Amino acid sequence: MSGNSIGFLFKVTTWGESHGPATGAVVEGCPPGINLTESDIQKWLNRRRPGRIAASSPRQEDDTVKILSGTFQGKTTGTPISLFLENTNVDSSAYEDIKDIFRPGHGDFTYFRKYGIRDYRGGGRASGRETAARVAAGAVAEQLLSCYGMEVFAYTTALGGIVIDRKKYRVGTISRQNVAEDHLLCPDADAARAMEEKLEQVRRSGDSLGGIVEIVVRGCPPGLGEPVFDKMDADLAKALMSIGTVKGVEIGAGFKVSEMTGSQANDPMTLDGFLSNHAGGVLAGITTGQDIVLRVAIKPIPSIAKDQQTIDVQGNHVTLSIKGRHDVSAIPRIIPVCEAMVTIVLADHLLRQKAI
Ligand SMILES: Cc1cc2nc3c(=O)[nH]c(=O)nc-3n(C[C@H](O)[C@H](O)[C@H](O)COP(=O)(O)O)c2cc1C
Repeated sequence: MSGNSIGFLFKVTTWGESHGPATGAVVEGCPPGINLTESDIQKWLNRRRPGRIAASSPRQEDDTVKILSGTFQGKTTGTPISLFLENTNVDSSAYEDIKDIFRPGHGDFTYFRKYGIRDYRGGGRASGRETAARVAAGAVAEQLLSCYGMEVFAYTTALGGIVIDRKKYRVGTISRQNVAEDHLLCPDADAARAMEEKLEQVRRSGDSLGGIVEIVVRGCPPGLGEPVFDKMDADLAKALMSIGTVKGVEIGAGFKVSEMTGSQANDPMTLDGFLSNHAGGVLAGITTGQDIVLRVAIKPIPSIAKDQQTIDVQGNHVTLSIKGRHDVSAIPRIIPVCEAMVTIVLADHLLRQKAI
């Protein structure tokens, strides 16, 4: 199974299944001399763990990271950094009943069709658990980017159709500190309350919800991104689309550009800088030096308690109601994962630009 790595100079590989003994990541290409301890990684992993809201998975993993290689005396050595996360809270019993049944919306059907064998316990490699390894690797990239004054942060702008007040909460006014205290990492307290109520209502009905996460990069220098196939926006879209439940990626004005005229969509330039940012910080695949602004559309979690029509491995029709420990929405746990993927892409392009 190839396709487990991302990046050209800063390269991240993840490994492990949801109910296997452990999961983790290998980071290659990180320059030597960067400060890196387990606690630098742990603080990011703690943000992804379940438990912020009642609607998150009851599976309680410690997510305690071990650095197995690549550092010495708290600094990177330039050799591969191996990150290890033990799966300590595994309960595969709920999957025994559905081991031959394909869950609608999940990877069961496609993994089985592709490989003829699949680890049915907890979604195997297609599980949200795999994203812990991404967050651990993203923390390494973050240590590198912070040396260059770059910051990546993300927050919820919509959940279950409830949208933040965009007149009050514009991109430029939102910071990591503004959203840190909210359970859903949402900048609009009124919208967040309505989202939490809706999540609880939907959880009780045995269903799930999707939403939108916005990601902002501050302090990015101009010039990052490689024409033509490794454009910054192309690499960011790929990295974000590789996260389970992400079904769409927008940059800047996104799909709204299709309704604009050229004079509305172009960002006028002055000697003091750009007057707007419809481009989302990227032109011709290269960063402009403005904030990079992305949005991802997140689908509802596929494993739901409501009855659903499906089929099994033997070719029978089945009505399925899923038990077990599942999130009701990938939000807010997906937020540090989005940050990690963007951070990894930026670290890679930063090193590529330095190599020119
Ligand atoms: C942070 C996170 C948590 C997730 N939790 C669950 C879960 O509890 N149950 C579930 O069925 N899917 C969960 N998923 C979603 C599946 O991993 C995903 O829907 C599946 O791999 C199919 O991929 P696709 O949605 O991209 O088509 C989660 C995803 C993420 C990113």
